Amino acid sequence: MRDLPTLRQMDTPLKVLFTGYLTTVAVGYLMALIQILFTHGMADGKFGLSIEDIVYSYYGNRSGTVLETQLNGAMKENASEQERFQIIQWVRDGADKDEYADRGVDKIIKERCVMCHNKESALPDFTNFAVLKELSKQDTGATFSSLTRVSHIHLFGIAFIFMFVGLIFSFAETSSPRLKSLAIGMPYIFLLADILSWWLTKLSPNFALLVILAGSGMAMSFAYMWLVSVLEMWLYPKVFLNAQGEPYPAWEQLLADKYHAYGGPDKVKRLIGFGKDLFATLLPQLLKLWRQLLERVKRK
Ligand code: HEC
Repeated sequence: MRDLPTLRQMDTPLKVLFTGYLTTVAVGYLMALIQILFTHGMADGKFGLSIEDIVYSYYGNRSGTVLETQLNGAMKENASEQERFQIIQWVRDGADKDEYADRGVDKIIKERCVMCHNKESALPDFTNFAVLKELSKQDTGATFSSLTRVSHIHLFGIAFIFMFVGLIFSFAETSSPRLKSLAIGMPYIFLLADILSWWLTKLSPNFALLVILAGSGMAMSFAYMWLVSVLEMWLYPKVFLNAQGEPYPAWEQLLADKYHAYGGPDKVKRLIGFGKDLFATLLPQLLKLWRQLLERVKRK
């Protein structure tokens, strides 16, 4: 990049183009997060994203049926307590076709669900009994076909977004080449880890934490590149220069100085030794906690 202008030096029209793109993508990112809160976030019937939500969404709530999980989760608001109870009882008793009408479940479905779940919508069509019957089976979470669909859309779409965000950020001058490579490369690793973790969680609930970690990693890389790019384009003198107009030392340099001031490699070796001991002591406890958490999720 030696002969190319830095973000600060770019012509205003180009800055406007870059900023417009970054802002639009950021709003899109925000909308995606809100959507996650409303779909996956509601999987356990409570607002906010938790490990249980991730397990229910991908692995399923295997002690229950799809209808039951949904009626206690994302579909909770669509019927009264009494109506949901009636549907769930019918499902638990085997979702028998004759009892569907006898118990009045057909009326509830018609009144409360069919306005959205009908032939015209892309949702499961509840005017067809076979569809309803299918959803009364064990809840095994996301289906393989839905996972392949969402996986490839995410891989293509998000790779594109990070292509341009990374390209813009590559003209930044305040991060060292090493840090820039890291920030540009990380989202791709996190993206692959994120998609992989959905599939792994589908197979075993143990991987639910990986979904959250990979997603957070991606968001952090995005936020870092976004912020540095926009600040360098529009607020360079304010943010990156001191009162004398000299650049602040890069915070990497500050860290390196601190590191040496505090004893450098020797100290780190001792700390690593200490960390290892601590980890070895804590690991069994952590594993126990994790197993208890999963047990709780499964029992619900
Ligand atoms: C306001 C529209 C609306 C109403 C009313 C509604 N649903 Fe839904 N339902 C949806 C949407 C949208 C989805 C997909 C949500 C998602 O992907 O997380 C969905 C998904 C579901 C699913 C999961 C389907 C699957 O293949 O995983 C079930 C089961 C379900 N609804 C049951 C019900 C029941 C039972 C009722 C009636 C008590 C009901 N819904 C009422 C909009 C509605």
